[in-house]
Amino acid sequence: MKIVQLKPLNDKVSVKTETNILDTLLATNCEVAMACGGQGICATCHVYVREGEESLTPMTSREKRTLSLMTGCNISSRLACQARVIGEGVVIEVPEGMYLRATNDLASLVGRRAEVPILHPKDGRVLIPKGKIITKSRILELNSENLDVLDLRNQSSGLT
Ligand code: FES
Repeated sequence: MKIVQLKPLNDKVSVKTETNILDTLLATNCEVAMACGGQGICATCHVYVREGEESLTPMTSREKRTLSLMTGCNISSRLACQARVIGEGVVIEVPEGMYLRATNDLASLVGRRAEVPILHPKDGRVLIPKGKIITKSRILELNSENLDVLDLRNQSSGLT
């Protein structure tokens, strides 16, 4: 068993060795959109590794490629579904924001302010900043964005 610390709440979770970070998050009832179903081809399970990078399995070429498409990633970024815990001292921070799966998700929120940033499911870009009012016109604009992660899955099917 290994201990993983989750920020910002500082929850400590005990997981079996080789458990991936995604399952660790789900064990704490953390909501993760996992739009690609854990295949490493969307941005919706993106996390920052604050400590213990060496206690995670190395990045695959697929994970590197997906992260390279993201706007919100940096050197400490990992995809939770791809990184498995193999040692102690891992500290994970979940980025603030809600990944959009479909513009319908926002329809019931028209006229309200976004409580957290609304993020693009493929590249992590902020579609609606925190505090901005969600308008019908913005939803219409978003309808023209390609938010379909399945497209990306099909494009990436040749990757390892
Ligand atoms: S769930 Fe899509 S990359 Fe992890």
